[in-house]
Amino acid sequence: MKQLKVLIIEDEKLIRWSLEKHLTKKGYTVFTAESGEEGIKLFEANHPEVVFVDNKLPNMQGLDVVLKLKSIDDEAIIVFMTAFGSIETAVNAMKAGAGEYVNKPFAFEEIEVILDNIKNKISIIKEIQLLRRQQKGIITFDHIIGESALFKQIVQLSKKIARTKSTTILLLGESGTGKDMFAHAIHNESTRNDKPFVTINCSSLPESLLESELFGHEKGAFTDARQLKKGLFEIAEGGTVFLDEIGEINQSTQIKLLGVLENRVVRRIGGTANIPVDIRIIAATNRDLVKAVDEKSFREDLYYRLKVFQLTLPSLRERKEDVPNLARYFIQYFNGQFQKNINNISNAALQLLMMYDWPGNIRELRNVIERAVILENMSTLQAESLPGEIVSLAENIISKAPIHKDIQIEKPQSAYEIIIPTEGLSLYEVEKQIIIQALQKTENNQTKTSKLLGISRDVLWYKVKKYRI
Ligand SMILES: Nc1ncnc2c1ncn2[C@@H]1O[C@H](COP(=O)(O)OP(=O)(O)OP(=O)(O)O)[C@@H](O)[C@H]1O
Ligand SMILES: [Mg+2]
Repeated sequence: MKQLKVLIIEDEKLIRWSLEKHLTKKGYTVFTAESGEEGIKLFEANHPEVVFVDNKLPNMQGLDVVLKLKSIDDEAIIVFMTAFGSIETAVNAMKAGAGEYVNKPFAFEEIEVILDNIKNKISIIKEIQLLRRQQKGIITFDHIIGESALFKQIVQLSKKIARTKSTTILLLGESGTGKDMFAHAIHNESTRNDKPFVTINCSSLPESLLESELFGHEKGAFTDARQLKKGLFEIAEGGTVFLDEIGEINQSTQIKLLGVLENRVVRRIGGTANIPVDIRIIAATNRDLVKAVDEKSFREDLYYRLKVFQLTLPSLRERKEDVPNLARYFIQYFNGQFQKNINNISNAALQLLMMYDWPGNIRELRNVIERAVILENMSTLQAESLPGEIVSLAENIISKAPIHKDIQIEKPQSAYEIIIPTEGLSLYEVEKQIIIQALQKTENNQTKTSKLLGISRDVLWYKVKKYRI
């Protein structure tokens, strides 16, 4: 863990000076103030993790300083310094939010023990946050399925870029192509993976709310700003901010965002301090940003700042060879979810999935498989369990096919007697024509046709494909 930033608010010069010297020698970054007012300013400008506050200060009392610091940042850890024996003041300081106290005069060893405890506390808090995230199921590149050459190349590239520290990444691609997943996987593959991954959907909030979410606001910045609020860029310190649907942000937020990308600082609404932030930004959109730049709805300079590294995720129709892998992966996944035991997928079902165009991409495929797994009673997923719009694809193709009438099969005298013409006939053509006629008879209803012919829908489907009906 990096050494902490410590602020000492103490009017007695000797104590202030000796504590500063000792802690600096130990590697801490130390700021000092002689008064409460000065201390508060330094606190706002430098965001130290730990503040030593003396009880007796000129003008503002130590207790009031504690209250003020806590109102600025609830997470600040405060060590209250009292004269020996004033237990009551110490108790009051604890009530006001000071986490620790130390009696004066103190030995430096005492201070070191206190700081070590604080460091432990901070790392435990971080560990808990990390565990919570892991419980939610973190996404890594291992969860991203795709064997096609095109896709593999993109995954390799993403892994490489994930290992850079702060390079901004722009993820493009149609809805449901995996932009969210990639953003998570990149974060988890990066050195920032023990720090927060903060995500915000830029289209989900009204403009003013979005700005205060992103940049935070000072207390009193506007009517409802009763408390200081840190923005997401600050909350994500050390980690990754994922700006989803970046194409939807308005001009004023675009300018502010440009400032963050250029200078790596944020300014809270109503604030004057530039707060440095160490984050990686990943932005995503399914909009055509080049067009938006042309139409002047998206700033060109911001676009170039975002596309330092641009990844375009292919649509599922561009990598149909991945459909079987993805389908099998989702079947396994939903088997687990719904306590099913489907271990295969029929050829007919697979062929339908391959024929379909997937406008909703992987999300749509996932939903289709989820539904099919719920409906399926067999151990192999059948075409019948797929939704109507996919099944009817095959029916449409059949109805558009020309009906061949060139071979006449004479009316059989009994159900199983077919009169073979003297010149002979091809069994292949007979089967084909029977299927065509049966389809005509049922007005292309596959279920009725398969019943009529005494075969399963899968077999019917297979033959329709085989004969190119
Ligand atoms: N390569 C993949 N392997 C496995 N699952 C995937 C893959 N890509 C996407 N998914 C799944 O598909 C769904 C949609 O993916 P995701 O939310 O990442 O898409 P998106 O591009 O962010 O879509 P939108 O533009 O609508 O926000 C998710 O449930 C995700 O788990
Ligand atoms: Mg998304």
